Amino acid sequence: MKICLVSSEVAPLAKTGGLADVVAGLGRYLESNGHDVRIFMPLYGRISRDEFPFETVDAATSVTLDLGKEKFEFALRRTKLPNSESLPVYGIDCPQLFHREELYGSYADEHVRFGLLNRAVLESCQRLQWAPDVFHLNDWHTGLLPLYLKTLYAWDDLFRHAKTLLTIHNIGYQGTFPTDALADLGLEKYATLFHQGDYRDGFVNFLKTGMIYSDWLTTVSETYAKEIQTSDYGMGLEDVLVQRAGALTGIVNGVDYGDWNPEIDPLIRHHYTADDLTGKPKNKAELIKAFELEIDANAPLFGSVSRLTGQKGFELLPDILPILLRQENMGLVILGSGEEKYEKYFQWLRDKFPTKVGIFRGYNNELAHKIEAGADMFLMPSRYEPCGLNQMYSLKYGTAPIVRRTGGLADTVVPFNPRTGEGTGFVFERFDVDELHREMRRALEVWQDRNAWARLVQNGMAQDFSWQRQGPRYENLYSGLHA
Ligand code: ADP
Ligand code: GLC
Repeated sequence: MKICLVSSEVAPLAKTGGLADVVAGLGRYLESNGHDVRIFMPLYGRISRDEFPFETVDAATSVTLDLGKEKFEFALRRTKLPNSESLPVYGIDCPQLFHREELYGSYADEHVRFGLLNRAVLESCQRLQWAPDVFHLNDWHTGLLPLYLKTLYAWDDLFRHAKTLLTIHNIGYQGTFPTDALADLGLEKYATLFHQGDYRDGFVNFLKTGMIYSDWLTTVSETYAKEIQTSDYGMGLEDVLVQRAGALTGIVNGVDYGDWNPEIDPLIRHHYTADDLTGKPKNKAELIKAFELEIDANAPLFGSVSRLTGQKGFELLPDILPILLRQENMGLVILGSGEEKYEKYFQWLRDKFPTKVGIFRGYNNELAHKIEAGADMFLMPSRYEPCGLNQMYSLKYGTAPIVRRTGGLADTVVPFNPRTGEGTGFVFERFDVDELHREMRRALEVWQDRNAWARLVQNGMAQDFSWQRQGPRYENLYSGLHA
């Protein structure tokens, strides 16, 4: 099939979270299965052109797009996705919109930046004379494409057979703008096609628009697919999702074990496998040294790698960590960036317990791999988690995840039962300080029982969330759309 994957981020070119990994991993899987898959993304100024040499595409060296109020010019460029056979990543090169300090921000023209992305993808397909069977869209940034197909591009036979599938990676980000945005996007005369309740209230919502006009919807775990149909998790979109429940599928993300596997990971010093774990404590020792901690080898090391936002549940920690750190022989290393209050808190914690706590504020892929390999336990107490990749990476690295039973965390981590020796991690139910505290103490208890811990690690490392397992579910959906 011809599959057009559109995303605002793609690893390793530009990444702020799991979306980037998922699009790259799914793309590679689809390519390896013989599909004509092509990825489209913005060519951000932050993408290193030395590292990723983008060549010009003759069919579209300079395209002028009259968006509505303003004209924009973009060029289409192309590179090969690293670690793929020859999977093309097409970059929409529009410096005026995409050469900014951050990938996303509260830029006044955010709606124009991503509105243009949607149109530029269609314009590029036209110039390439490439007729996708499926546009596989991701998150709010790509939400307008189905509507553009049904309106401004309805005349073009090239797209007559194209179906659209929108994957919701995170319903917390919707792309909501004042209705003025429509004039900037050439969509004013289609105002009645937008959700009318929203329109009357003075705004348009890109994600909701995508949810209404896509042929099919997916989200990144089965549990999240159910959760977002409720007011607790739907963030105002639950009613639309209930209406579209018959065209909504939950598919847990795959993991690209080419990138995340302690046996071959080029970013860690000591490789290891389930059969020979001797490398793991060596990685741990190096991590402890790198963070200048003073804990002994027997002390369990907790780790976390995360965007520091309300979603991730870190506000449960201030009532727990100082107590644990005072009472227990343990260490903690955190890698993350995001909201200032969390960054400040972890800095405070580091200052208070300098021999036991390490924090690295910022984004650092190499360190993310080193923490997965060197930590013993991985903290993910998320308030909500559509899928979550880090708990799956942790399992593969023999690092026991401590998670809340929500979204993809519920679907991928099985509570460990020391009596039966079954299970892969530690799972608490309600978003509640005492519940997390209890689970962390359980983890410390099991840690003391070396046989039980070894069993837990083996169980986790044996899990398989590869794209080989998860990818066919997308292929079935794609072909189902054409059946
Ligand atoms: P989300 O997409 O909500 O951030 P996921 O668990 O799906 O959560 O994916 C997060 C991805 O981003 C993982 O690959 C993780 O290693 C990476 N990541 C998050 N924060 C950082 C950071 N500060 N430095 C390096 N990698 C990070
Ligand atoms: C989102 C979610 C995360 C998910 C990722 C990739 O950012 O927060 O849970 O794993 O997308 O689908």
